[in-house]
Amino acid sequence: MRGIFYVLGLLLALGLTSADPQYCLHEMLRTDERIASHGYPTETHEVETEDGYVLTLFRIPYSHNLQNQNEKRPPVLLQHGLFSNSDCWIASGPDNSLAYLLADAGYDVWLGNARGNIYSRANSQISLNSPRFWHFDWHEIGTIDLAAMIDYILSETGYSQLHYAGHSQGTTCYMVLLSERPEYNDKIKSAHMLAPCAFFEHGRSAVFRWLSPLVGTPGGMWNQLMVDMELIPHNNLLNRLIDNSCGSGSPFDSICKNGFLMFANGGYQNINLTAMQQLIETHPAGASSNQGIHYLQLFTSHFFRQYDWGTKKNQELYGQDSPPDYDLSLIKAKTHSYSSPNDALCGPEDVDTLVSKFIHLEEDHRVPWESFNHLDFIVANNMKELINDLVVERINKYERR
Ligand SMILES: *[C@@H]1O[C@H](CO)[C@@H](O)[C@H](O)[C@H]1NC(C)=O
Repeated sequence: MRGIFYVLGLLLALGLTSADPQYCLHEMLRTDERIASHGYPTETHEVETEDGYVLTLFRIPYSHNLQNQNEKRPPVLLQHGLFSNSDCWIASGPDNSLAYLLADAGYDVWLGNARGNIYSRANSQISLNSPRFWHFDWHEIGTIDLAAMIDYILSETGYSQLHYAGHSQGTTCYMVLLSERPEYNDKIKSAHMLAPCAFFEHGRSAVFRWLSPLVGTPGGMWNQLMVDMELIPHNNLLNRLIDNSCGSGSPFDSICKNGFLMFANGGYQNINLTAMQQLIETHPAGASSNQGIHYLQLFTSHFFRQYDWGTKKNQELYGQDSPPDYDLSLIKAKTHSYSSPNDALCGPEDVDTLVSKFIHLEEDHRVPWESFNHLDFIVANNMKELINDLVVERINKYERR
C-alpha cells in the first residue's frame, strides 16, 4: 500500500513542479543537433495531422561516409516507445545506434515523434494547456500519427513503400495502425518490432502491481482523476538532478540506475551508461496519462483491445459494452518480431500469445541473451550484435542488397 502512495505522490509532484509548460528546449541538444555533431547530414520536417497535432520528423537523408546523396536510398521510419522520443535511436552513437547503422547501409532514415512528446508539442487548434490536448492515446498515435508520418515520407521520397522499425509502444501503434487501417499494409515493405507489446498478462514489472488496481479498470475515481493529463512531464530540474547523480563514480550511482530502470525492472547488466545519460537529458519525453492507463487496462483484461471507457461510453463509441479487439490477423505486411527473455513489461509468455494471434508474422526472433531486457533494445552495450545488425541485414534482404 505504501508503494502506491509513493508512486502517486511522485507523479503528482512531478506534475505540479512542471506546471509551466515552457520547456527549456534551448538548454538541451535536439535530435538533429546530436546527429549533426557526428558529421551526418540532417533535416527537420513538420507534419500536421488531421486533428491538428504538429509532429516533428528528423531525417538523416544519406550518409556522409558513403556520399550516396545521388543514389537510390529506400526510406526507413523508426518509431520510439512510451515516454521516449527520436533520441532513443541515436543515443549510442554512430557505431551502435540503429539510425546511423541504417544511414551507413545506404538508407534514408526518418525518426518519428508521437504527439505529446517534447518534439511534437503543438496543435494548430488546441492549446497545450488545455486538457483536450492530452485527450489521446496510443490508439491515435497509431491510426493518425503513424499514418500521417508514413504518407508524408512516401510523398517526400517518391517511394510507394517504406521499412519500419519500432520499439515497445512503437510496435503497439504499428499493430494498431495495420489492424485498424489495413490499407496501410501495402505501404510497409518490411517491419521490425523490437520488444513488441500487445498482451500484458504476465508483466512482472512493479508498475503493473502498483498501478493497475487503481486505473486498470474503467470508471473508478482514480481513472477520473488521471485521464487526459500529461503523464510524468519532462522537467529540467528533475533531469539535472538525475543527470548529476548518475555521473560515474557518484555515490548516487546505484540509486540513479535503479530508479531509472524501474520501468525496465530487469536489471541493468547490459546498459551503456553513457548512452543512458544522454537519453535522460530528453526523457521522460511526454505522454498522455491515457497511454499509461490503456496499457494497464490490457494488463487487467488480458486483451489487446481499444480503450475501455466504461459500459456507457463504450456503447456510444463502439456500439458494445466492452472495447473491440485489435484484429492482428489483418496485419499482412512482412513483419519480424525481436523479443527478449528478461523483458519485465512484454515478456516471453506474452510474446507467445502475440505470436499465436499474429498469424501472418514473418519471423519470431528470440534474443539469445538471458539478461537482455526491455530498455536494452535501445541502450545496451551489446544491442548492435544482438539486434541492430540483424535488422539491417533483414532490410538489406528485402532490398536485395
Ligand atoms: C555507448 O554510448 C556512447 C555514447 O553515445 C557511444 O559513444 C559508445 O560507442 C556506446 N558504446 C556501446 C558499446 O554501445
